[in-house]
Amino acid sequence: MQYRHRHLLGIEGLTPPEIILLLDQSERFVEQNRRADKKQALLNGRTIIILFFESSTRTRTSFELAGKRLGADVITMSIATSSVRKGETLIDTAMTLNAMHPDVLVVRHPASGAVKLLSEKVNCAVINGGDGSHEHPTQALLDALTIRRRMGRLSGLKVAICGDILHSRVARSNIHLLTTMGAQVRVVAPRTLLPSAVERLGVEVYHDMAQGLAGCDIVMMLRLQTERMQGNFVPSIREYFHFFGLTYEKLAEASDEALIMHPGPMNRGVEIDSVVADDYGRSVIREQVEMGVAVRMACLEILTRNLPRSDTPNL
Ligand code: NCD
Repeated sequence: MQYRHRHLLGIEGLTPPEIILLLDQSERFVEQNRRADKKQALLNGRTIIILFFESSTRTRTSFELAGKRLGADVITMSIATSSVRKGETLIDTAMTLNAMHPDVLVVRHPASGAVKLLSEKVNCAVINGGDGSHEHPTQALLDALTIRRRMGRLSGLKVAICGDILHSRVARSNIHLLTTMGAQVRVVAPRTLLPSAVERLGVEVYHDMAQGLAGCDIVMMLRLQTERMQGNFVPSIREYFHFFGLTYEKLAEASDEALIMHPGPMNRGVEIDSVVADDYGRSVIREQVEMGVAVRMACLEILTRNLPRSDTPNL
């Protein structure tokens, strides 16, 4: 089985064997990352540029670690605080970096579709580190790896994704991945935080946590993406927490072994009660972060394998 794409721009369109390939390859790196000597020479001589137009802790650090653990040279550019704008300027930036012959560009951008646009202009492989409210493929892969390691499978699981579905690229990528792999996905959110016709993505829709969580194997909580909101989408944080914040009382509706997940960053007391988040018997939030490095190593390795041997400059 091969990964047939030059880039990793989203989960939508990937086949089950491609997803399994990425997860199996990630699994190989989990043990390596737990050893004292974490380095391999698989990507020796390769150059990775991480270009983030939005803030990030987990995704940026884990891509950087992933590249370094595989022996690549990694440059991280954080331009969230600069005056870089979208459109032409994004393309100009991409062309400038392209002229330096990177092998992989990892890009995060606030505009949905911006990473795809950029990928059409460069010679290297591009990984989407999150584009607006659209997709965040490596997050869905690390979530799937975490679930698969804990539950032994993805198929047939009942997964509730709760909170700000409307603005969440994590939700979109997870919905694509989990439905493709045969899980039953529910979204649980107030009407204001759901995309119109969301059921067309193959999910069941709930507006009540008790009903939405009933019998679920996985409870995935999402942060309110206030940076993507214009105006008020919830009456107040207190009311939102009351109806949609994950507490033990609401969790009691899920299966006894249900796992609690969150992509981070968490807003304690908004979408999740602090004690629930810190319940490491059930919360796998730290494990998700650990799996993130292995998944990003796998993505970098698989994409560089597909690169042409000699790069034909097209500057
Ligand atoms: C998410 C993101 O940036 O989309 N975070 C992450 O990558 N772990 C979710 C979020 O910001 O709420």
